[in-house]
Amino acid sequence: MRKLILDVDTGTDDAVAIMLAAGHPELDLLAVTTVRGNAPLPSTTDNTLRVLDHIGRPDIGVHPGLARPVVRPGFPGQRHFESDSPRDMHGTTLPLPEARSAPREPSAVEFLLHTLRTTTERITLVPVGPLGNLATVLAIDPSVRDAVEEVVIMGGAHAYGNVTPSAEFNVWADPEAAAKVFAAGFDRLTLVPLDATHQALVTREDCDELAALGTPSGTAAATLITKRIDAYTAGGGVAVRDTAPVHDAVCVAYLVRPEVITTRPVRVEVETSGELTVGRTVMDVRPNATGTPNAQVAFAADGRVLVELMKTVFAAP
Ligand code: BDR
Ligand code: CA
Repeated sequence: MRKLILDVDTGTDDAVAIMLAAGHPELDLLAVTTVRGNAPLPSTTDNTLRVLDHIGRPDIGVHPGLARPVVRPGFPGQRHFESDSPRDMHGTTLPLPEARSAPREPSAVEFLLHTLRTTTERITLVPVGPLGNLATVLAIDPSVRDAVEEVVIMGGAHAYGNVTPSAEFNVWADPEAAAKVFAAGFDRLTLVPLDATHQALVTREDCDELAALGTPSGTAAATLITKRIDAYTAGGGVAVRDTAPVHDAVCVAYLVRPEVITTRPVRVEVETSGELTVGRTVMDVRPNATGTPNAQVAFAADGRVLVELMKTVFAAP
């Protein structure tokens, strides 16, 4: 069993990632930490609790983290679109039953510090939102890096962003935090940027098959991914109509089906001061690249592997 902690800003794709991690027999989801991103912190925390209660896993603790970026209070904080826009693929509150569980003490940063300082085996961290929690942990005690098996991050973009032409939301929402994480010197850092997740598209037919499983996770995944497909179709954000990427879920899929992505070693740095380029992940992919690679970066992903995994994991009652 691989021990992992998810760091989320639950939203619709975070929710699918949580259900995959909680449901896969080879993964031991120790806890989930939350951060402001797709919605304000109280909402991302409540949404996370809703997901775990919905799939009958109130045993997995939820520890709230940062309510704002590490350096730029309020920059940019808000979600991509107004909450009533058809292009809003998350909404403030997920369409799931009200949570019955409550967040746990201590806060995300204290929880991560304690867990990483006391663990007897290395833990995999899977941040799929803005990186403020992990950046703060590293600022307090960089040595906890040695207790980390691998960091698997959903974020960044090489070809083009989604919030600006340059930047992807998770990095854009807290650029200084992302810069600190990429510079931390982790033994193994795997980055799953938009260049990969935009290739792992899920269709309406896939959603019909997930719904037909008749399980809480299958039904929830179908509902949440359909919301994403509707939003992308309204906003034109994907190359193939009536499909959607499920960005965060690709990171969890990689842990148990590594063939879901194709990676190469690249040096990744984050622009924190540009006007047009703030939040851009600058990836040195030149044939004569000079910098030492600090990440395995995914430039391709296979949506059929992701869909097959969801159908298998979400079939379990
Ligand atoms: C990232 O931004 C959020 O909207 C998603 O949850 C994902 O983590 C994609 O840019
Ligand atoms: Ca997310």
